[in-house]
Amino acid sequence: MLHAVQSEVSLRPETPGDAAHIEALLDHAFGPGRFVKVSERVREFARFRPDLSFCAVEAGKVVGVVRLWDIHIGATPALFLGPLAVHSGRRLDGLGGRLVQHAGEAADALGEGPILLVGDAPYFERFGYSADPTGGIRLPGPVDPRRVLARRASGPMEGPVRA
Ligand SMILES: CC(C)(COP(=O)(O)OP(=O)(O)OC[C@H]1O[C@@H](n2cnc3c(N)ncnc32)[C@H](O)[C@@H]1OP(=O)(O)O)[C@@H](O)C(=O)NCCC(=O)NCCS
Repeated sequence: MLHAVQSEVSLRPETPGDAAHIEALLDHAFGPGRFVKVSERVREFARFRPDLSFCAVEAGKVVGVVRLWDIHIGATPALFLGPLAVHSGRRLDGLGGRLVQHAGEAADALGEGPILLVGDAPYFERFGYSADPTGGIRLPGPVDPRRVLARRASGPMEGPVRA
């Protein structure tokens, strides 16, 4: 009798050797529009945090990614989350959620402050992200304010997003 083997997906910090695989995954997940997003403008000046960026790996293949970056919102240090992507063949199985929560917990463990992102509230709200505190935040390009979400804000956040 044959038994289906459920392969394990593990999360680990991103390493430089993952770069090409992640690029392929992001192209696959977002298509050519990925470079015109306002989040991409943020990532042009933000400092990448490899220690807070994670790959989901299954049978040696990168099937998911979440990246975090150092930013300031006005004078306040914060993190910026994105991109988040899961391979289309591995979606709807909780992997995106695992990546978002793992990155948040890793940031908490280091005593980091709020995490900002631009994304769909109906998805990210379940992980504690909300547009409530973000009305005063200015991003480097036009964006629907309902998509500007933050986690662990201690109150309303104000000012430009900068390096
Ligand atoms: C968004 C994404 C990372 C989710 O990955 P995933 O592994 O499928 O996520 P999870 O399994 O944790 O969550 C799935 C649930 O979220 C819901 N969901 C997924 N994307 C959603 C969205 N944009 N808005 C609202 N709900 C969403 C699914 O319907 C599913 O709901 P259910 O639990 O009621 O069945 C994945 O769809 C993806 O890579 N999309 C393309 C890239 C992208 O849009 N990234 C986010 C940028 S802001």
